[in-house]
Amino acid sequence: MKNSFDLTGRKALVTGGSRGIGAAIVETFARHGAQVALCQYGDDENAERLVQRLSAEGLSVSNISCDVSSQSQVHDMAAWARRELGHVDILLNSAGVGGSDKPFAETTQDDWDRIIGINLQGTFLATHAFFGEMCERKYGRVINIASQLAYKGAAGLAHYCAAKAGVVGFTRALSFEGAPYNVLVNAIAPGPVDTELLRAHSREWLDRKQSQLPIGRFGHVEEIAPTALLLASKAGSFYVGQTLSPNGGDVML
Ligand SMILES: NC(=O)c1ccc[n+]([C@@H]2O[C@H](COP(=O)([O-])OP(=O)(O)OC[C@H]3O[C@@H](n4cnc5c(N)ncnc54)[C@H](O)[C@@H]3O)[C@@H](O)[C@H]2O)c1
Repeated sequence: MKNSFDLTGRKALVTGGSRGIGAAIVETFARHGAQVALCQYGDDENAERLVQRLSAEGLSVSNISCDVSSQSQVHDMAAWARRELGHVDILLNSAGVGGSDKPFAETTQDDWDRIIGINLQGTFLATHAFFGEMCERKYGRVINIASQLAYKGAAGLAHYCAAKAGVVGFTRALSFEGAPYNVLVNAIAPGPVDTELLRAHSREWLDRKQSQLPIGRFGHVEEIAPTALLLASKAGSFYVGQTLSPNGGDVML
């Protein structure tokens, strides 16, 4: 009997899968038997390195460049994913960018559009490309990477917090439409995880932040990927509209 975390035969698309949290999820899904396609933007080198490393072990992973904030690029990426995979069972939206850490009064319309465009609109566009087909096939898992900042807020990050709170609301609302068709929509709201996105903050900010965490350290990407595996697999088949928070105790809901 297959174990309930097994993804053999499943086809997964991971946005933002070239590095950080997305890359750890690509690897975890592939190691659990899924055929995985990933997209990224401006990070082909990391993506190709990951594809080569996993392919050398006989795992099925492929890569394409796509700016998820662009409707036409997501349209083309979705067509590519259908050719690569046949169809998509699991969509994991991890593509995201951090905020520029500016006081709100100095935040420009361009800053706002970029953060909302990639983190929130990107989640909408990629999900919209596959959700109807998943409902028709009566199977789907949509997993959105939000952030605990959706709940906590943070000075200098109004745009990012708004985008991630939007992802949580989007997840809840869409889960009502998907669940009757066995398309389960859930989110993950990680705490601070050691990736390039986090490392963009100043040393002083990082030291202060780390010391405030009950667990006393930042998370590792390998500590987020198992939550994605749970939600993607049979083991997570009773989760609907939930946002799970591996966060070292930074927010307790
Ligand atoms: N690292 C953290 O502390 C943390 C905490 C909570 C939530 N998150 C969220 O986790 C997700 C992954 O972040 P990470 O920390 O792994 O960051 P990262 O910078 O390591 O990786 C970001 C990924 O997103 C891709 N990406 C960026 N802009 C894109 C675009 N326009 N179109 C398509 N892909 C794009 C990059 O190519 C890369 O693959 C993001 O949604 C982020 O907001 C991160």
